[in-house]
Amino acid sequence: EHGLESPDYPWPHQGILSSYDHASIRRGHQVYTQVCASCHSMSLISYRDLVGVAYTEEETKAMAAEIEVEDGPNDEGEMFSRPGKLSDRFPQPYANEQAARFANGGAYPPDLSLITKVPLSSLFLFRFSFKGHLARHNGQNYVFALLTGYRDPPAGVTIREGLHYNPYFPGGAIAMPKMLNDGAVEYEDGTPATEAQMGKDVVSFLSWAAEPEMEERKLMGFKWIFVLSLALLQAAYYRRMRWSVLK
Ligand code: HEM
Repeated sequence: EHGLESPDYPWPHQGILSSYDHASIRRGHQVYTQVCASCHSMSLISYRDLVGVAYTEEETKAMAAEIEVEDGPNDEGEMFSRPGKLSDRFPQPYANEQAARFANGGAYPPDLSLITKVPLSSLFLFRFSFKGHLARHNGQNYVFALLTGYRDPPAGVTIREGLHYNPYFPGGAIAMPKMLNDGAVEYEDGTPATEAQMGKDVVSFLSWAAEPEMEERKLMGFKWIFVLSLALLQAAYYRRMRWSVLK
């Protein structure tokens, strides 16, 4: 069964030449870390990816150093734990899928690395070759609508214990409770943390994570079109001038 189709929201980065809102990515990373990361992994993202995008190198190093990473074997063949480094991936909330399901009443919180990936801009093979990294239909709009879409079930609809009514989720009953309540985080830049603000910011962050190359892709597209239009002018001029004597 399909969920309710999400509305189209005016994402600031959706224009053909628009870049991401980096202050929003930074706030969204705060929401992910403080709210979502206790259940959802983002196993394709490393700390270093954030450098120059949402944080300075110093800030990112300090952030990475706060986690403990299992490493090894060392020269003596032993495993050891050490503070995180820029090259480490974000930590995983659970050891494996079974542990994740056990903690969530049987439901599996999917990895969020590619959840908002736009299918047409990704290779089909890529989407299907990473188990657990599937994008959702209408990704960014869907995730925002889902996070802010919790409400009382309509009259006559009963929701099983442990599930929550959400019309945007296929089937209408989701195991994830409503996570974004006003004030769930305290933004370090002072932005009021309303439900809608946190939803927008976390989706900005997830969109960047799914397509970190978007800004460069748009710039390259612009350059190519500019250069090709110069070439077209040149060709048109050449055609008129050089062929004129042959007509
Ligand atoms: C599912 C996002 C926080 C537990 C999902 C889905 C998304 C999502 C996009 C996929 C829905 C689908 O399959 O179409 C987020 C975001 C969060 C967040 C952005 C932070 C703002 C949490 C937390 C928990 C959690 C903190 C655990 C307490 C789950 C579970 C599912 C799920 C169990 C599977 C639901 C089901 O299949 O019924 N979440 N989530 N989520 N999430 Fe979250």
